[in-house]
Amino acid sequence: MQTQTDITQLQWSDALFLNDAKTDLTHQEFIDLYQQTGAAQGAAQLDLYVELVAHTVEHFDQEERWMLAAGLNAGHCHFSEHRNVLEVMKEVERRAQQGDIHLIPNMLEALAEWFPMHATSMDAGLVAFLQTAGYDTSTETFKGPPPKIELMSTEQGCGTAGHC
Ligand SMILES: [Fe+2]
Ligand SMILES: [Fe+2]
Repeated sequence: MQTQTDITQLQWSDALFLNDAKTDLTHQEFIDLYQQTGAAQGAAQLDLYVELVAHTVEHFDQEERWMLAAGLNAGHCHFSEHRNVLEVMKEVERRAQQGDIHLIPNMLEALAEWFPMHATSMDAGLVAFLQTAGYDTSTETFKGPPPKIELMSTEQGCGTAGHC
């Protein structure tokens, strides 16, 4: 018997607001999909989970595009954290498609723990870094001349989550 996910575990709140319209919208969409997935059961839950994984692929790609544009390289800890989370999410998708649907609520529980931490540390650091660099996330362009890449260290991009 499938256990019901407690979708109240992950909810949008002011604490998650990062003051970057594109980032905040993407994060709100993620939480909306998370809640819909958690509230569903059986095949409907699997379909929504597949959507959540696809949304997360786009979500991470978007941030990684911004990081690369602002001069952070793919060896940065923010990339590897995305990679690790997505790897587990995709593995759960693969196994759920083979019948292990009970893995989805477990994954949702883990995401409820992980997401606020990631958003308020690495994503918050990234937003602050991009704002300092003059990068506009809605147009994916620099407001002024692009900053010199050599001025940006890996540590800066980690922001408040400088502990890779
Ligand atoms: Fe994010
Ligand atoms: Fe991120």
